[in-house]
Amino acid sequence: MDKILVHGGRRLRGTVKISGSKNSALPILAATLLTREPCTISRVPDLSDIHYMLTILSELGCEVERASGTVQIRAGKILTHAPYEIVRKMRASVCILGPLLGREHDATVSLPGGCVIGDRPIDLHLRGFEALGAVVRVSGGNVKVLADRLRGARISLRSKFGSTVLGTGNVMMAAVLADGVTTIDGAAEEPEVVDLARFLISMGAKIEGAGTRTITIEGVKELHGAEHEVIPDRIEAGTFLVAAAISGDGVTLSRVEPRHLEAVSAPLREAGFEITSHSSSMTLQPGSQRRPLKLDTVPYPGFPTDMQAQMCALLATTDGISVVTEHVFPNRFMHVAELKRMGANIELQNATAVIQGVPRLGGAPVMASDLRASAALVLAGLQADGTTEINRVYHIDRGYESIDEKLNELGASIERVKA
Ligand code: EPU
Repeated sequence: MDKILVHGGRRLRGTVKISGSKNSALPILAATLLTREPCTISRVPDLSDIHYMLTILSELGCEVERASGTVQIRAGKILTHAPYEIVRKMRASVCILGPLLGREHDATVSLPGGCVIGDRPIDLHLRGFEALGAVVRVSGGNVKVLADRLRGARISLRSKFGSTVLGTGNVMMAAVLADGVTTIDGAAEEPEVVDLARFLISMGAKIEGAGTRTITIEGVKELHGAEHEVIPDRIEAGTFLVAAAISGDGVTLSRVEPRHLEAVSAPLREAGFEITSHSSSMTLQPGSQRRPLKLDTVPYPGFPTDMQAQMCALLATTDGISVVTEHVFPNRFMHVAELKRMGANIELQNATAVIQGVPRLGGAPVMASDLRASAALVLAGLQADGTTEINRVYHIDRGYESIDEKLNELGASIERVKA
């Protein structure tokens, strides 16, 4: 299994180009199932999660062609049952349920299990499908959704953790071909939901309100092929902003959408860094003094859970006491034990990490446990004395396109060791 070795202490400087968004691309690729006509999706990042999604689409019968960042998909005649062997590798496979239900009124996928960031139910997705008139059956580890016809309905996707991002996308994708009007209350407001809605609209769907808490969908008879460019990855961008904060002497991100990053740049400014934004670029300069933070992860437009681990890596060496609370995935703290092995002083109190900044971290062998935790370990390694050896790096390849090469171009010293 590949390892990453991060030799700490190098300063970062220069410009890094941000890739297309993984979490936008995954449901958008699934949405191509809604039409028999060809669709072309560009700025699709080269990541293992994307590869799994394209494999699922091929197994369902789609013609898939990929050339660098552009994917062409034609979902002519398709199957409605996704094979377990591929589906089990990626939780986001559940987002084929909505389009298959919308088009074929029949869809089966394996139920996603828990994952290291916690129990990850899909009850809200299923509640949405039932409200549209589908029957949900769970047996043999599979979830099957079936309907004679889908009828527009008023659906609430609120949960005690806020809304659901993939659930909102799933219900939206089923509702675009339903009879009548569907209203989703408590919809997720994330930019990835807006991007999916934009793609569906370009396919002929009638959707209003994406990006707000209430989305209205007027069902249409059929959708047609379309072209779409995926939005920039705000979490990859946020991760590079934190890298720049940790050990940068002025780093610019290009091809970003600064509006999507306000919840990340605001606390970084509060922590003492200077950030300037232009229409599609952002530059972070070191400040004269770093300050600790109090952070709470919440759904968009608040501070994202997907940036929590990376911020912990920054705060680990920020003088003073920082307090970071997870409100979206209360168990998402697998990185804490690894950061502590590198010398961080962090105490976990339920879903809150209390971080007492230390002057330095030291390199150590550490284990990547999930995607964002792995990114946090790379960031910790950048500022550590000596070498940090990160094992199980396949987690990082699920969601960061060439993170090692991109950081090296900025001046880091990172090696990938093939096992
Ligand atoms: N939830 C339920 N019931 C459901 C669905 C969700 O209770 O039916 C709960 C979850 O357990 C969680 C909260 O609602 O506590 C939010 O989960 P959400 O459904 O929004 O998560 P998701 O759509 O499955 C996406 C991203 C995650 C990101 C979350 C939150 C994709 C492929 N994944 O997951 O990204 O953390 O939204 O923003 O879009 C990552 O990229 O590293 C990642 C984990």
